[in-house]
Amino acid sequence: MEKKPLISGAEAKRLAAKYGTPLYVYRQSVVAETYRRLRAAIPYPKTRIYYACKANANAKLLATLRRAGACIETVSPGEVALALRAGFPPSRISFTCSNLSEKELLAVAKKGVRMHLDSLNQVRRIGAAFPGSSIFVRINTGLGAGHHSHVITGGPESKFGIYHTDIPELLRIVREYGLTVAGLEQHIGSNILDARAFVRAMRNLLESAKRFPDLEAIDFGGGLGIPYRPEEKPLDVRALGARVSAAFAKFCKAYGRELELAIEPGRYLVAEAGALLAEVTDRKETTAHSFVGVDTGFNHLVRPMMYGSYHHIFNLTNPRGKKESVTVAGNICESGDIFAKHRALPAPRIGDLLLFADAGAYGYVMGSDYNQRPRPREIVLD
Ligand code: LLP
Repeated sequence: MEKKPLISGAEAKRLAAKYGTPLYVYRQSVVAETYRRLRAAIPYPKTRIYYACKANANAKLLATLRRAGACIETVSPGEVALALRAGFPPSRISFTCSNLSEKELLAVAKKGVRMHLDSLNQVRRIGAAFPGSSIFVRINTGLGAGHHSHVITGGPESKFGIYHTDIPELLRIVREYGLTVAGLEQHIGSNILDARAFVRAMRNLLESAKRFPDLEAIDFGGGLGIPYRPEEKPLDVRALGARVSAAFAKFCKAYGRELELAIEPGRYLVAEAGALLAEVTDRKETTAHSFVGVDTGFNHLVRPMMYGSYHHIFNLTNPRGKKESVTVAGNICESGDIFAKHRALPAPRIGDLLLFADAGAYGYVMGSDYNQRPRPREIVLD
C-alpha cells in the first residue's frame, strides 16, 4: 500500500522553523481514531484495551487514550507512577514485570493495580505478604511470535511468565497461601502481522484457562503489528476481532461465566501516529555508498540499528526529485548509525527535510542522550 507522510512539506517547514530539528511529531487524532477502530473491531462487550505505554509515554497521547476509554498496561514502577499521573485510576492499570525485586513488587502491590505475576517466586512473595488475596498470573504457554528474536516473549527461549509445565506447582502455591487466581495473561511477542499466530496463542491460553476455576478476566497481550514497509499488508483487525470475540464467547459459555476479555497493544495504537523529522546535513560518496547525513541518529530512533527494522523515509522538501539510491546515516560516532541502506529516495539535498515514518512507537521512549546529544523535542498536533 502506498504510504502517506504524517505531515506535508509545508507543515514540515513550518515546524522545523518554529521548533528546530530533529523533532518528534505526533497526531493525536490518529491515536484516537486508531483506538476507536480497534475497539469497534472487537464485538465482545466485556472487552478492555490496556494501552502498553512502554511504546510511547507522551502525556498528551496518554490523555487522548484515557479520554477515548482505554485502560493502561505498565511494566515498571516508573510506568505505574506515569499512569497514575496521567489520571488512570488503579482499577484501570495493569502491570507486568519480570525479575522485580521484592521491594518493588510489594510497592506496586500496594498501589492496587492489576498485577500479572510473572514467576512462581512473585506468587510466593505476594502470597506471603497478602495471604488470601486474588492474583493474576502471566503464563508462557510455549508459543511465541514476533518481528525479531529480541521481541519474541513466549516459548522456551523467553524469560517471561510462568512456564505452562509449572502450572501444577503454581496451583500448589496458590493453595498454600489461600490465593485465588482471578486472571491469566500472556504476551507472545511484538509486531505480529499474521492474525493466525495471535489466534493460535489465544487458543493455547484458553486451554490452560480450563485449569483455573475462579477466573474473572483473561488478557491475551499485545503484539498487533503495523505495516512498516509499503508492500506489507495491514492486519485485518476486524476479522481478527470477530474471531477472537467468537472464540472467547464460546469459551465463556463452556466455562459458565462471562469473563473480561483484555488485550494490551502498544505499537498498534501509536506507531503510525508519530514520525521523526530531521534535516539533511551532509552528502558523501564512497565506492560502496552514496551517504546522506542527517541531524539525528540511533540515539533518537534505535529500531533500525537494534532490530534491523525498516522505517519508511520521505523527502518532504523535494518529493518530486529524481530517485537516487542512498544510505541514510546519523550523526552519532558509530559506523552502525545507519537508518537505511541503498534506499531509493527523491534526491536528498543538504537542507532537505526527511521524515522517518511510523516512529510513534518505540521511538522517543527508547532514545538516549548518547554522545551528549539531548533527546529531540516532541510536538503533538491536532
Ligand atoms: N504487553 C507486554 C507484557 C509487553 O511486553 C509488550 C511489549 C506489550 C504488551 C506491547 O507490545 P506491542 O503491542 O507494542 O507489540 N522495542 C521493540 C518492541 C518491544 C516490545 C516489548 N513488549 C520494537 O521497537 O519493536
